[in-house]
Amino acid sequence: MDTIIILDFGSQYTQLIARKIREQHVYCEIHPFNKIPTLGSDVKGVVFSGSPFSCNAPDAPVPNMTNIKGKLPLLAVCYGAQYLAKWGGGRVQQSKIREYGRANLNYIDNNNPLMKGVPMGSQVWMSHGDTIEILPENYKVICSTENVQYAGYKIEGEETYAIQFHPEVHHSVDGNTLLRNFVVDICCCQQSWTPESFIETTVKELREKVGGDKVVLGLSGGVDSTVAAVLLNRAIGHQLHCIFVDNGLLRKNEFENVLESYKDMGLNVKGVDAKNRFYEVLAGVKDPEKKRKAIGKTFIDVFDAEAKLITDAKWLGQGTIYPDVIESSSVKGPSQTIKSHHNVGGLPDYMKLKLVEPLRSLFKDEVRGVGRQLGIKDELIGRHPFPGPGLAIRILSDVTPEKVHILQEVDHIFIQGLRNAGLYDKVWQAGAMLLPVQSVGVMGDERTYESVVALRAVESVDGMTADWSHLPYDFLAKISNEIINRVKGVNRVCYDISSKPPATIEWE
Ligand code: XMP
Repeated sequence: MDTIIILDFGSQYTQLIARKIREQHVYCEIHPFNKIPTLGSDVKGVVFSGSPFSCNAPDAPVPNMTNIKGKLPLLAVCYGAQYLAKWGGGRVQQSKIREYGRANLNYIDNNNPLMKGVPMGSQVWMSHGDTIEILPENYKVICSTENVQYAGYKIEGEETYAIQFHPEVHHSVDGNTLLRNFVVDICCCQQSWTPESFIETTVKELREKVGGDKVVLGLSGGVDSTVAAVLLNRAIGHQLHCIFVDNGLLRKNEFENVLESYKDMGLNVKGVDAKNRFYEVLAGVKDPEKKRKAIGKTFIDVFDAEAKLITDAKWLGQGTIYPDVIESSSVKGPSQTIKSHHNVGGLPDYMKLKLVEPLRSLFKDEVRGVGRQLGIKDELIGRHPFPGPGLAIRILSDVTPEKVHILQEVDHIFIQGLRNAGLYDKVWQAGAMLLPVQSVGVMGDERTYESVVALRAVESVDGMTADWSHLPYDFLAKISNEIINRVKGVNRVCYDISSKPPATIEWE
């Protein structure tokens, strides 16, 4: 597969470059600038990302370009462009005028292959504190804006291109054209990276890797584990043994419904009812992190016991996806934001299983594309994210089966309501919280003293930041009414209007 290597200098936009290149159906990989992989014949070009550093800073990132510059087509973005200019003997200085936000190209060298099809006046997105003041002699300007003369350049005699703006950001209106020009025309990559080709090569690789061994995989009802399972199933059929644990903290009827649809998909899956075990370990536990730990540990115990029943299992299948892989080897080190969320991922060493992670090169939207191609129903593919510890972190304070029941009913009314109103796919995630608070109400002629629930719906891209969804008042009124009328034990409904940060999506 033709491949582009993106060297990451720590820019917030690096993943976006990768996603935009993959949208051109060209495969690419991100590597830290100081861990350059061996560049085989499949590597057709290299991209340098931006960086929060100034190239004049004493600790600025310095890549080893021995096997890259002049040997492979290179596109240097922002920091990359400044670094190369300085490296060639030019001058980079702190910019005197603001070079942040939208700008328009007022000079374009349309004979340059990178700029082909980019119209005069094209809007680009600038985001840099430094600027190139003097360009080395054999560097030729290929585009400019009013304030930035050297917005882009090419080094003569080699396929090295650089731009100070960010083509990957959607405010750069012709950014996709420019990236296409680079990967397709300059690097000559075949545009063959598609869900179909991914499935074909992965199935082949999985067969080679796993051979006749058995694989165990924990299903969660989520998109990633489901797609990983269906892909493995296509490769090795009934050598794949799936385990789906009911921890008693799932949505209403979720266990039964999802188990049924897994069976429809032809998966070899065992449903394990461990509800009471989870309720027992959670009894009286109020601290959110202690709840997470107790649930994580119990899951491992249950899973381990089930996995042992599958004699001679050699592999553990997991739905790890690319952002997790990049995070854990990133320039900046593992990000704080991953925190204890990935509690279901790590299984203890004593299980002695080798890992097989068929989705580790895919972004979330690509996982969905592959899932659709594999024939998984849209209803499953388009599901909102749901946390591993489930409703336990939406029941503030201690968890009891009765509270779970109340919250399942409330959540069901809310989620079904969103579906019926055509709003489900417009929000990124939604759910309800049961608060450890009682309030006074009246029903008929009677005074009530019952629980408060909070509804939460958010817009987000990756869950790292989020804004509350501006759901229609009429819709909220209807849902609130339905909840209070139908769910015994609840007499008040609130809607959470906090964004993340400073709040988080889950309340615990
Ligand atoms: P927060 O609450 O941190 O949530 O804003 C961000 C995203 O992560 C999910 N989440 C979890 N997922 N185990 C998980 O598997 C957890 O412990 C956990 N806590 C939060 C949350 O649902 C949201 O999508």
